[in-house]
Amino acid sequence: MSAHTNTGAVAPPAKGKPVTLSSLAEKKALGEPIAMITAYDYPSAQVAEEAGVDVVLVGDSAAMTVLGYPSTVPVSVDEMLMLSAAVRRGLRTPLMVGDLPFGSYEVSDEQAVATAQRFVKEAGCDAVKLERGGSSVERARAIVDAGIPVMGHVGLTPQTATALGGYRSQGRTAERALEVATDALALEQAGCFAIVFEAIPSDVTDLTMPRLEVPVIGIGAGPATDGQVLVFHDLLGIYDGHAARFVKRYADVRAEMVRGVHAFADDVRARRYPEPEHGYTMAPDEVARLAELLGEEDSANEQFSGEWTL
Ligand code: KIV
Repeated sequence: MSAHTNTGAVAPPAKGKPVTLSSLAEKKALGEPIAMITAYDYPSAQVAEEAGVDVVLVGDSAAMTVLGYPSTVPVSVDEMLMLSAAVRRGLRTPLMVGDLPFGSYEVSDEQAVATAQRFVKEAGCDAVKLERGGSSVERARAIVDAGIPVMGHVGLTPQTATALGGYRSQGRTAERALEVATDALALEQAGCFAIVFEAIPSDVTDLTMPRLEVPVIGIGAGPATDGQVLVFHDLLGIYDGHAARFVKRYADVRAEMVRGVHAFADDVRARRYPEPEHGYTMAPDEVARLAELLGEEDSANEQFSGEWTL
């Protein structure tokens, strides 16, 4: 696990055994499900660490969940690196994967390797993820050849959602499903250590899984995958509005956050906060001395302003 980088993105020492590519492969072999979530900052990384997930993805979903962009397309490499470095500082044990943003790897193998290297060197990522088959297969191979582990991502690939007809499930015809399966097999051949299947029918997953040796992590791809991933903000309910069909909410954190901030604002306006226990005290003789010193200051200032008004 790459714990040291040249930008201060240093992982705290692992408490348990850090998750590695081999331990993920072992989990698949043993039929033990892999739990993966996204994280985008120091506190969410600490939550992932404490909850004991296996893999943390600094997803480009950050574009929407924490940066407020309308899609994942606009997020930049520098923005993703800043978020990834913060996650690194909060994470010890799970494998940390950085998502290569749209436009940062498609142009050439050189561009893909250079961007992936930044995620490892500057943000301390253990691996990177890229989307799609097609030309991404060669980019994945180039990054793997450069010594950086790569996770693939097929099915609904949000970076190219427009070309796919929008944010909708993929592989619902046999031909399109074959494309998804072929992309997955090609990414495995290129050396990807794991592949995300997003928003595809369970039947497509069931028919493809036996043909793949690497772990498959599903999100809206049915129960047969080797693991499942959900977006941190979706599973905890830290968002407003519509969620995808595959999202299961395990908490309602946004409502709790609004409730807390509301209660604080109410207390401030009603002068119920702060209470004595929220303040600091001073010894009574120091208070008396301060009053005396301020008195001396006051008379000096009166004298001074008097000189000017003369
Ligand atoms: O960016 C992201 O959060 C993802 C997951 C949905 C797999 O790619």
